[in-house]
Amino acid sequence: MKTIGIIGGGQLGLMIAEQAHLLGVRAVALDPAPDAPAFRVCDDHIVAAYNDAEALERLCRQCDAVTYEFENVPGDILIPLSEKYNIPQGYKPLYDSQDRLREKSNAREHGLQTPRFAAVDDEASLRTAVRELGLPAVLKTRTLGYDGHGQMVLKSGADIERALPLLTVPCILEEFIPFDSEASIVMVADRERVVSFPVGRNIHRDGILDLSIVPAAADPEVLERMKLQSERFMRACGYEGILAIEYFIRGREIYFNEMAPRPHNSGHYTIEGCTTNQFRELVRYLIGEPLQEPQLVAPTVMKNILGQDLEAAREVEKENREGVYVHIYGKTESRPKRKMGHITFVGMTGETYEKEWADRFVR
Ligand SMILES: Nc1ncnc2c1ncn2[C@@H]1O[C@H](COP(=O)(O)OP(=O)(O)OP(=O)(O)O)[C@@H](O)[C@H]1O
Ligand SMILES: [Mg+2]
Repeated sequence: MKTIGIIGGGQLGLMIAEQAHLLGVRAVALDPAPDAPAFRVCDDHIVAAYNDAEALERLCRQCDAVTYEFENVPGDILIPLSEKYNIPQGYKPLYDSQDRLREKSNAREHGLQTPRFAAVDDEASLRTAVRELGLPAVLKTRTLGYDGHGQMVLKSGADIERALPLLTVPCILEEFIPFDSEASIVMVADRERVVSFPVGRNIHRDGILDLSIVPAAADPEVLERMKLQSERFMRACGYEGILAIEYFIRGREIYFNEMAPRPHNSGHYTIEGCTTNQFRELVRYLIGEPLQEPQLVAPTVMKNILGQDLEAAREVEKENREGVYVHIYGKTESRPKRKMGHITFVGMTGETYEKEWADRFVR
């Protein structure tokens, strides 16, 4: 029996482990929190910090292959480990995505269009960048941002003053794209092929993903181009394993926003909405089994459940409706804006969701 290791024990680790089990594969997770959600389903676990080299080595030793769901594993630990153990995705995709400046430069070098951007380190470089890019613009910390944390939209000159406190760490200023919609794609690649999941439209609220609607209602030519350019990008960068890319769509233009070499929140719909899912294909990749091309089962909507919607989600779960799949991650502490679960509605369009379901959750 094969064993995979997961660096990180959040909901992504939990869902990787569930799919591993369905494929007859054991799973071990490492996470600093003793009550990490993935620990409940994993066959074994290690409670340790992400920079605990000895603990990470212990994880590697007991696994046939190791992956990560946590994006900020330090390179000085992961690189030596990936030379000694089987961490097939390696450090490169993490390295390329850990810093927004490097991430966007890399995307551009490999042929993807990005919003215009400039590095910002202090007030002078912020003022120069604003002159260059114009307003509105988005100021983001270069590292460690997630769910809209460490970001600020600058609309006027007065906002520059307000943004100064953010500049204690290196930042990037990006042109604000008044997009028509946001979309993302999840791909899994091995040496032979890249498989990609149907592109969904993403709706964010307060900087956090709220809904994914699949298929994305955008121009088919734009969606096809997104798929082709994403697959080409993944190959050109030499990445293997899993990669998600978030885009802005404006007219016929596609702008790369960011990428993540791990399962993606917008891909949770694939568990029930596709013939195979992002977690399962990642496990197949890790254990060296041929990848399967996913097909969409039916139009699908995924609703993220944050702390404020947890009770409503439990009610929906009790109703046991056909095509409605409630996932609660089992986090011990519920907070507003914390991702506590998600619900997948298979056989549902965005319009029907709005009409029949949206009112059940906090607006
Ligand atoms: N340049 C931009 N123009 C317009 N909107 C933007 C821009 N950058 C970010 N946003 C908005 O803010 C959201 C969050 O930004 P981004 O994806 O960069 O941050 P994040 O904190 O890493 O988010 P997450 O990890 O949740 O995906 C985007 O999905 C988009 O809605
Ligand atoms: Mg994002």
